[in-house]
Amino acid sequence: MCGIIGILGTRPVAPLLVDGLKRLEYRGYDSAGIATLENGHLTRLRAEGKLVRLEKKLAAQPLAGHTGIGHTRWATHGVPVERNAHPHMSGRVAVVHNGIVENFAELRAQLQEKGYKFESETDTEVIAHLVSEALAGGKTPVEAMRAVLPCLRGAFALALVFEGEEDLLIAARQGPPLAIGHGKGEMYVGSDAIALAPFTDTVSYLEDGDWVVLTRRSATVYDADGKQVNRAKKKSSGSAFLVSRGNHRHFMHKEMFEQPETVAHTLAHYLDLAKGTVRKLGNTPDWKALSRISFACCGTAYYSTLVARYWFESLAGLSVDHDVASEFRYREPPLDEDTLALFVSQSGETADTLACLRYCQQSGCKTGVVVNVAESTMAREADSVFPTLAGPEIGVASTKAFTAQLAALASLAVMAGRARGKIKARQEEELVRALGEVPRYLAQALKLEDTIGKLCRHLMTAQHVLYLGRGTACPVALEGALKLKELSYIHAEGYAAGELKHGPIALVDEDMPVIVVAPHDRWFEKTVSNMQEVAARGGRIILITDKRGAAAVSVKTLATLVLPDVPEIAAPIVYSVPVQLIAYHTAVLLGTDVDQPRNLAKSVTVE
Ligand code: M6R
Repeated sequence: MCGIIGILGTRPVAPLLVDGLKRLEYRGYDSAGIATLENGHLTRLRAEGKLVRLEKKLAAQPLAGHTGIGHTRWATHGVPVERNAHPHMSGRVAVVHNGIVENFAELRAQLQEKGYKFESETDTEVIAHLVSEALAGGKTPVEAMRAVLPCLRGAFALALVFEGEEDLLIAARQGPPLAIGHGKGEMYVGSDAIALAPFTDTVSYLEDGDWVVLTRRSATVYDADGKQVNRAKKKSSGSAFLVSRGNHRHFMHKEMFEQPETVAHTLAHYLDLAKGTVRKLGNTPDWKALSRISFACCGTAYYSTLVARYWFESLAGLSVDHDVASEFRYREPPLDEDTLALFVSQSGETADTLACLRYCQQSGCKTGVVVNVAESTMAREADSVFPTLAGPEIGVASTKAFTAQLAALASLAVMAGRARGKIKARQEEELVRALGEVPRYLAQALKLEDTIGKLCRHLMTAQHVLYLGRGTACPVALEGALKLKELSYIHAEGYAAGELKHGPIALVDEDMPVIVVAPHDRWFEKTVSNMQEVAARGGRIILITDKRGAAAVSVKTLATLVLPDVPEIAAPIVYSVPVQLIAYHTAVLLGTDVDQPRNLAKSVTVE
């Protein structure tokens, strides 16, 4: 989703702005631009496509100036072409914007009536014209912002610079996050601490409704009521964000191979592996007082909750309700104080998930979040925070965040089961020991890479791919299909294996690869029956199973990928690896943009 950077510098800012934008690339974008103040006058360069095109333009036509703003745009209103790229300018102001101005059509009509001409189809341009109108009416930039901000409805983050004002940058947050970076005689603003990492590790975060007036030596923050407020400075872990791909061809590849370590870190937070017990953590819900968990999340995080449902129901006797966050609120689900509303998010900023969290808090139920970005809005707002310690995930397609989410959720389910008396000390120890082995199993699963790389030659020509699974393997099948779609643009669908004969079997013919995720567990034999149904119709089966499964299965397969035999609670975490590798290697063979697939954004901050 769009990324914002703004700098009040003591040196030429154009290259610094581009550097900041590069760090925001992971969020997904389709055009980019910067504006600087050259001798008090606004100059701007924008380009469709990747940042390299903007850099080429800048090399040919450098922008001078020590004050500037930059933007990577993920198109919402208007196609991704240069005229819609940010910054947008009107009169003495230039603005960059992340989010959506919901009442833009109404504002645009009013401005057009007054004679304002629009160069773009964006909602952002109304902001430039509104501020410009206020400035033309004699207001100072600060007065203009104070007047314009209440006119804007929706969720947005903004940064603006003004002609003739070399020592001024104004930014505002209503929804998508915005961080202020405090430098030595320099001041910055950015969509996240990752963008600011090369410049400073001292940041403060704007809260919803805040806006800030920045000079090189000061940051004056106002809340939504216009009251001056203090937002604490923090040392960000930003320097840890100076991430590189190392020897890996893609961030995604690096992140997949980090999983033994990231899952180990996450498990160690929740489990005392030496003692075979769950740890006592502060700020956890009173599991005994709960009757229900209600999950709402998006995409891959949603699939982690589909796995977690099996764990919380069977291990803790808690009934689980789940939905995608974009639909949850429309159902107006009954929520009471016995319900824990639990959210899962890598970024902690996903607009739909955040809206559900706030909705649940207003409904009076307890909230918790399983989250990877410790400084995110969800981490700040939820009653209980359950970290995943996956480290920064840069590849748009989630991999190590997913397995860390599963590790955290499995640990929480054991914790809840123990607290509720549903599992005894012996079973706790067995489960904790089983989870403790997961990093080792993950390392073994990653060794399938070469085999999978070769196998993907059969998949790269497919038009459609079906993924099947039963029990906790079912959400892994759904996640596998999502990964393949995202990365290779091949149409893929995941189904509960038992649903096959209720419709999807109509698709099966000799051109259809069917990937079956089937550890040798209590559901295995039934899944084998579903494989027989596929084989009888000529479907090309790729079976992902373990040694016992491979020995037991009699169905003819195109390939059988053999994982180690693992305990049931470990299986969905371990089986995530081959489905990730399949998607990755198919995409590499097809030559798609693995780390930034088309149309996708890492942090989806609009509903
Ligand atoms: O940051 P979040 O975990 O809240 O993001 C949720 C989804 O947008 C995300 O998982 C998305 O589906 C990924 N592209 C999946 O690879």
